[in-house]
Amino acid sequence: MKISVSYLSSKYSKEQTIKLIEATTADYLHVDLMDGGFVPEKNFTITEVLELLKNHKKPLDIHLMVFDPIIYIDDLAKLEPKYITFHVEATKDVVKTIEKIKEHNIGVGLSIKPHTDLYELMPYLALVDLVLIMSVAPGAGGQAFLLESVSRLKELEDFRNTNHLTFEIEMDGGINADTIKLVPNLDIAVSGTFICKSADYQTQINELKQ
Ligand code: DX5
Ligand code: ZN
Repeated sequence: MKISVSYLSSKYSKEQTIKLIEATTADYLHVDLMDGGFVPEKNFTITEVLELLKNHKKPLDIHLMVFDPIIYIDDLAKLEPKYITFHVEATKDVVKTIEKIKEHNIGVGLSIKPHTDLYELMPYLALVDLVLIMSVAPGAGGQAFLLESVSRLKELEDFRNTNHLTFEIEMDGGINADTIKLVPNLDIAVSGTFICKSADYQTQINELKQ
């Protein structure tokens, strides 16, 4: 299982937190971008995020919690991320947005909130590289893992197997050394608070990777 670390909630500045993550064996840097519409808080401007991440070393796993995700893609492509993930609830133009990300040869991720029916994803699953199941309501770090995420993962895995699909499955929210044991089949686990509010990032990552 790969570990993607979110710098959203940390004891340090964004710059310092990213530096500390870059020094670990984490697989990806998870970039949470919130527009103050799809979720209550706004935490970025494009200029700021391009500046913040211009010298990144870890592959970027960008998680857009925004309405109209398509309008950000050309700018974010300058960072050459591994994945750009947007929410199925955030736009009527899911296919157009998928195509826009693919134009840049970036992996396409589609995310889903905890209370949205998984069937909403079905029309798009053959088109995407990644599905991000939210295991908390999007919008803030430090929330408790929702247990129903375990059966949602199982359902999505079964669908993937039955239909011979190849997308990866990622989960985001409330992942720590205990909750990660409930979802051992994940391809990618996102973790924020458990790592970035600790005294030693590498020790926490080692615990997740056990
Ligand atoms: C929540 C974000 C998450 C969050 C994860 O809206 O998408 O990536 O930062 O943080 P923890 O691990 O604290 O739930
Ligand atoms: Zn996230």
